[in-house]
Order: sequence, then C-alpha cells, then structure tokens
Amino acid sequence: MVKPELVVLTGAGMSAESGISTFRDSGGLWDKYPVMDVASANGFARNPALVHEFYNTRRRELLGVRPNSGHSGLVELEKWYDVKVITQNVDDLHERAGSSSVLHLHGELMKVRSMRHPERIYTLTPDNLSTSPDSRDEYGDPVRPHIVFFQEAVPNIEPAIDIMQQADVVVIIGTSMAVYPAAGLVNYARRGVPVYYIDPNPAPVPDNITVIRATATEGVARLIEMLRP
Ligand code: OAD
Repeated sequence: MVKPELVVLTGAGMSAESGISTFRDSGGLWDKYPVMDVASANGFARNPALVHEFYNTRRRELLGVRPNSGHSGLVELEKWYDVKVITQNVDDLHERAGSSSVLHLHGELMKVRSMRHPERIYTLTPDNLSTSPDSRDEYGDPVRPHIVFFQEAVPNIEPAIDIMQQADVVVIIGTSMAVYPAAGLVNYARRGVPVYYIDPNPAPVPDNITVIRATATEGVARLIEMLRP
C-alpha cells in the first residue's frame, strides 16, 4: 500500500525544547548578535573571522543537545506516512532522531564547503569542528560555513517546491514564517490539502490552516493522535 505523503516544514521552534535558541523570540539569537554581521553575505565579506567564530559557537552548542520527542514523533509518523521533512534549521537533530528524508533549506551547521569549488562539501567531526578564515581543504582552498547567508539564493528551494506539490498533508512547526522563500512554500500545496501549524506563538496565517497552539513536543504528540489511522 502506498503511504500518503506528509510534508513537514520546520523552523527554530522545533529544536527549542532541545535547548537551541530560536532567532526572533525575545532573547533569541538575533537579539544577541546583529543578524547582518553574522549571517549575511556582506557580513561574511566584511569580517569572516567573526562569522566563522559565530558558527563555531553554534556547533559546540549542537554537540551538547539531543533531539526532543517532537523530532522522534515525526519519525513515529513514518509508520503510516511517507514523511518528508523540509527544515530551515541548520542543526542535525532530525537526522539524529532518525528521520529518513530531510532537506535542509538554509544549509547545515556541521558542514563546510570550498569557496573555490562550492560542490566540494565536507562534514566536520566533533573533535575538529572549529574553522577560521585560515582553514583550508585538502586542495589548499579556503572553506566557509555551509550555510545560506542572507542575500544569497536558496538552492534547495526547487526540490522543496517539488516535495510540497506532492503533499497529501502539510505540517508546519515552530517557525515565525518571516523568512522567504521558505515561508511561501506552503502556497505550493495542492488546493484542499490539510495544513496544520504547531507553534506556541503562531504567526497570523490564513483560515484554511489549522493552528495547534502548542510547543513542538506537545503539538507533535497531539498531531499523532489526530493523524494516526
Ligand atoms: P524564528 O526565531 O523566526 O521563529 C521561531 C518560532 O518558533 C516562533 O514562531 C516561536 O513562536 C516558535 N517557538 C518558540 N518556542 C517553540 C517551541 N518550544 N515549540 C515550537 N515552536 C516554538 O525562527 P525561524 O522561523 O526558523 O536562517 O527563522 C527562519 C530563518 O531565519 C532561520 O532558518 C534562520 C533565521 O535567520 C538563517 O540563519 C539562514
């Protein structure tokens, strides 16, 4: 039997209960660090050392946290659905929880890539996760965080649109829906496809979206009760 396709779009709120700060909540990362200094193409050109150090700190944080029951709940849904996760998160908590299909829209924290040959992508290891403007790959080329900076294109948006167009059910979890093109993805779902949005402080959304005002762990538990056959 072919399983229906459940497409899940996640944002920083998905990982909040694991202990990773969101960006735009009060006390979030963009309160502490000016976003255009540490996460934009211009910021990286101006002060690459600062940007490397910012992502080194994020990587060290990531080593100390674990997936939460929201992440593992999405894996449980694979019993009944072909679950495709599209995440704005750069952490690897969906993979560590065991999700079988994860597409990263904004890059991956534990990876770097060659600045001369962007197709050369390298995974860092826990004992070797710091990079700097002096870091070189095996060909002697400088590397940069494998992160989509503001002012850069989002290469995975095309595959994400393809996935969204196949969805039979859509679930959005823990995102302020403030950053495009990710926030516009849901518009590619076919007409009539049910859309759920789990967030304790949800952004305004159209009436056809069912809002579950809850954290990711509570909301995914409720979702499983609603969606299991
Ligand atoms: P934001 O920080 O903009 O939004 C976080 C959302 O998570 C808000 O709607 C919160 O209400 C919600 N939230 C907080 N705690 C939660 C919890 N325990 N469970 C569920 N939801 C919770 O983060 P994003 O929408 O992911 O990009 O931000 C999008 C992009 O902007 C990020 O990928 C990042 C950032 O700049 C880059 O760095 C490229």
